[in-house]
Amino acid sequence: MVDALKIGIAGLGTVGAALTRIVQNRAEELAATCGRPIQITAVSARDRQKDRGLKLGGIEWFESPEELAGKADIDLFVELIGGAEGAANRAVRAALSRGLHVVTANKALLAYHGVELATIAEEKGVLLNFEAAVAGGIPVIKALRESLTGNTISRVYGIMNGTCNYILTRMEKENLSFADCLKEAQRLGYAEADPAFDIEGNDTAHKLSILTTLAFGNKIAADDIYLEGITNISIEDIRAAADLGYRIKLLGVAQRTDSGIEQRVHPTMIPIDSVIAQVEGVTNAVAIEADVLGELLMVGPGAGGNATASAVLGDIADIAKSQPGAQRVPVLGHPAAKLEPYRKAQIQSHEGGYFIRLTVLDRTGVFASVATQMAENKISLESIVQRSKQHLSPSSHQTIILVTHATTEEAVRKAVATIRDDGYCVGEPQVIRIERPKA
Ligand code: NAP
Ligand code: HSE
Repeated sequence: MVDALKIGIAGLGTVGAALTRIVQNRAEELAATCGRPIQITAVSARDRQKDRGLKLGGIEWFESPEELAGKADIDLFVELIGGAEGAANRAVRAALSRGLHVVTANKALLAYHGVELATIAEEKGVLLNFEAAVAGGIPVIKALRESLTGNTISRVYGIMNGTCNYILTRMEKENLSFADCLKEAQRLGYAEADPAFDIEGNDTAHKLSILTTLAFGNKIAADDIYLEGITNISIEDIRAAADLGYRIKLLGVAQRTDSGIEQRVHPTMIPIDSVIAQVEGVTNAVAIEADVLGELLMVGPGAGGNATASAVLGDIADIAKSQPGAQRVPVLGHPAAKLEPYRKAQIQSHEGGYFIRLTVLDRTGVFASVATQMAENKISLESIVQRSKQHLSPSSHQTIILVTHATTEEAVRKAVATIRDDGYCVGEPQVIRIERPKA
């Protein structure tokens, strides 16, 4: 009889509760696939009295996740609490230091402490798996860490936040307000405990920083990411984008450039006929451009209890099947001690197309002045249109929409700053970068 893999789960919220149900309801199938039973022997959460609809009889309850990680009779510690600091951080360190394998879905923790935690795991010869931390159920960590070995990667990008994609989709399709869509995403268990992390782009940035390290072998640089969330995107932008043949998505993009690695998270206009533009709701998509393989595009559920628990379970199964003392794949794809310093490319040197929406006073010469500023900054235009459609602006104002050919961020910022200073703009100009996926 093979010994069961004894696991302790800290956090019994959306993901922890889904995981507990699956492990308990599929015990026989899991034992058969993993070659040994998987048994939950210890759990921890904040409120012991909460009715979670779970069968917790016979499972040891710990008031503190740290105590669970440090003392419980387990082989593997599963962290599903969240947050870069606090209880999750202390408990994961305690588990690794004790020589336990760890599985976590916590991207914030990895983004800020991933290199340190990987170092401890590698010193102790244990696994630290985190498939669920990026793009929910999509197996992108395994793809980058294992399947693409030998490829040189030039760009990784995608829709990595289910909450934002859900909001943008429902705003476009059903004309719902931003606030109502966010409330619904929270009700469905997609959003972070503090949803500002979703809508301000931080969650995507955390995930992107992890993918960047796996793809390019640099130290994680979560604070060195150009960041814009979706709170500034209006229904007018969504409609104007559609009129021009684009859709707006919150993308995370990491790419190699001559001046270093560019990492950016921002609302992005994507041609409507590309595959990524069709990705709707809570679904995520991650594209990887690699020299040997070509382009890999993975699409799948990006958030929610079951999707995330599925990825956590895959990590647990890998550990159940691993041999004690066996050679381990490095946690971050490259040994933690060999990660390169991060060489950041400044956003000013970003090259690409831009969508610019200006609301201006209805005055003679304004259109010509805008066109002149573009020319003076050597920005070539794909299109420039002036509209007085009521849905875009009140009748005393005009809307000017420009789409540029490839140019630099520096040139666009200079041109827009001068236009703003010229005194005919009403409100802030809207600038959205255009990204052209290969597929
Ligand atoms: P959640 O629903 O808010 O659940 C958090 C759990 O942690 C709750 O059970 C809570 O206890 C427990 N907890 C919080 N602070 C604690 C503390 N100090 N001591 C002990 N327990 C504590 O969060 P979630 O959505 O399941 O997310 C968990 C993790 O998965 C996060 O890192 C999140 O970023 C990540 N993730 C979530 C999703 C998703 O779709 N939800 C997807 C991918 C990754 P109580 O229940 O008693 O309050
Ligand atoms: N809040 C995150 C999202 C959960 O909406 O994508 C999945 O990481």
